Amino acid sequence: MSTSIRAAENKGRQTRTSSWLEERLGLSGIRYTVPEHANSLPYLLGGITLFGFLILIVTGIYLAQFYNPQPTAAHDSVIYIITGATLGDLTRSVHFWTAQLVTLTVLLHLLRVLFTGSYKRPREVNWYVGLGLLAVTLGLVFTGSVLKFDQEAVEALEHNSEMAAILGSLGAWFSAEFSRSTPLLTRLFSGHATILPLLFALLITIHVYLIKQHGISPKVTPDAETGSTAGTGTSRFDIHLKRMAGYGLLTLGIVLVLSLLFPAPLGQPGVAGVELTKPWWMFLWLFPAEAALGSRALIIVPAILGGLLALVPILDRSPYLSPRRRKVLLGSAALILVIIIINGVVAWLQPVAQHLG
Ligand code: HEM
Repeated sequence: MSTSIRAAENKGRQTRTSSWLEERLGLSGIRYTVPEHANSLPYLLGGITLFGFLILIVTGIYLAQFYNPQPTAAHDSVIYIITGATLGDLTRSVHFWTAQLVTLTVLLHLLRVLFTGSYKRPREVNWYVGLGLLAVTLGLVFTGSVLKFDQEAVEALEHNSEMAAILGSLGAWFSAEFSRSTPLLTRLFSGHATILPLLFALLITIHVYLIKQHGISPKVTPDAETGSTAGTGTSRFDIHLKRMAGYGLLTLGIVLVLSLLFPAPLGQPGVAGVELTKPWWMFLWLFPAEAALGSRALIIVPAILGGLLALVPILDRSPYLSPRRRKVLLGSAALILVIIIINGVVAWLQPVAQHLG
C-alpha cells in the first residue's frame, strides 16, 4: 500500500473518531470566544487555585486510606504515612505544600478581583460566592492542620475549643461536648474530608457558572466601565483552558520540588495545656491581637475583616474599573493589608506566648 493511501486512510479514521466524539461530547462547545486579557497571569489566578484543589483532592484521597482520626491513633498513623505507606511522605508533602500555595493564590486572586473592580455589577453575587470559597479554603487549612495531632495541632485544637466556648450555641459543633460518641478530632476530620469539600464543590459550581454567564470583567483602561463580556473577545476558551493547565502543571512542578527539598513537618505528640508553637502564616497575623485581647480576638478580627469585604460591592457602586477612579477604596484596602503584614512580621519576631485559659 502506498504511503499516500495509508495517510488518507488514517485521516479518514481520525475524522470518523473526532465526529463520533463530537456527536457524543460536543467538545467544540468550549471553543467560545473570550477576551484576550483573560489569558494573562492575574486573570488566571482563580484557575491556578482550582487546579491546586484538584491536586489536593487526589492526594487527600490517598492520605485518607492510611490516616486514623481517633485521637489515640492519629499521630501514629501520620508516622505510618511518612515511614510505611508507599510514596506516603511525598504525597503528604505535596498535599501540605499545595495547601500553602492554594491559600496564597486564592488571596492573590481576591486582591486581583479587588484591584480590577471585578466585583462590580453584574458580578456582586460572585464576589459573595468567592467570600464563601475563601471561608471554605481557610476552614480546610485549619481542620487539616489539627489532624496530625502533634504539639502544633493540639494547640490549634485547644484554640478551637476556646473559641467554641466563646461563641456558645453558635460554636456548638466545634466543641467536644457536641457529640458523646465521636471525639472532636474525628468530627473535624469529617469536616476536612467530606463537609468542606462538598461545600467547595457546590460553591465552585456556582462560581464557574456565574463567570460563564457574565464573562470575565472588562480590561481595565482609564475609562473602562463594568459590564458583561460574555460572547465577546479575540481569544477562545479552549486556549484559555490550555494556558490554565500550563500554569497548573508549573504549580505542580514547584510543589514537587518543594516537597522533595522540604518534606511536610511533623512534631512530637501533642501535650495539652502548654503553648510552645505559633500558628501557620495565614493565621499568624492574628497573634498580636490575641496577645492583647485574648482568644476573643480570633473571632472579632476575622469577623470585622469579613464584614468589610462583604461591604465592598455595596460601598463601591460606580461603574468605573480604573484604580485611579477608586482611590479611597483601594487606599483603605492597601492600608489594611499593610497592617496585616506588619502584624504578621511582629508575630513572627515575637516569642511564643501563653494565650489559652
Ligand atoms: C477556592 C477559591 C476560588 C477559586 C477556585 C476561584 C476560581 C475563579 C476562577 C477560575 C475565576 C475566573 C477568572 C480568574 O481566574 O481570575 C474566578 C473569577 C472570579 N472570582 Fe474567584 N475563585 C475563588 C475564590 C474567590 C474569592 C475569595 C473571591 C472574592 C471574594 C472571588 C471572586 C471572584 C470574582 C468576582 C470573579 C469574576 C472576576 C472577573 O470577572 O474578572 N473568587 N474565580
